[in-house]
Amino acid sequence: MNKIIVCYFSATGATKRLARKIAGILHADTFEIEPVVKYTKDDLKWPSKNNRTYMEMKNKRFRPLILNKLENPDDYDIIVMGFPIWYYTAPTIINSFIEENNLNGKKVYIFATSGATSVGRSFKDLKKMYPNISFISGRRFNGSFYNKEILDWIKH
Ligand SMILES: Cc1cc2nc3c(=O)[nH]c(=O)nc-3n(C[C@H](O)[C@H](O)[C@H](O)COP(=O)(O)O)c2cc1C
Repeated sequence: MNKIIVCYFSATGATKRLARKIAGILHADTFEIEPVVKYTKDDLKWPSKNNRTYMEMKNKRFRPLILNKLENPDDYDIIVMGFPIWYYTAPTIINSFIEENNLNGKKVYIFATSGATSVGRSFKDLKKMYPNISFISGRRFNGSFYNKEILDWIKH
């Protein structure tokens, strides 16, 4: 049986609630990706072209510092990575996380929450940026789902 960890970033709680639910269904560990400098309410106003998140997302090389690294990445075969979609793709803090933790050789699934944007572009962008990582598939969740959907999605 493969060991799974659900790693997530969440600015306002939606992705965190979902991550905990998914981890419970999979009997997985969890890891919260936290920025050193937390995002304030003003930072999170969107679609704005005049705030921190927009500036960070516009600069494709920007990497917000994160508080902590995975302690024992070698313990896991499967990484389930969750985030809110920001400006149509994955927040740059997800790049920070990927680049600071060695995910080579693991199966990586991604999930997102959003107002409306699907996960397709986030998945494509990440696959392109990190061709050595095995991204298996991505899903966006809105509303409820059956436990079986998660178990069928993440085969382990
Ligand atoms: C800076 C920012 C950018 C966002 N960009 C998008 C977007 O492009 N498309 C979309 O559907 N929702 C967008 N949203 C909405 C979030 O994806 C959505 O509210 C998400 O569920 C928040 O998750 P969280 O509570 O875990 O932070 C954006 C929200 C913020 C704060």
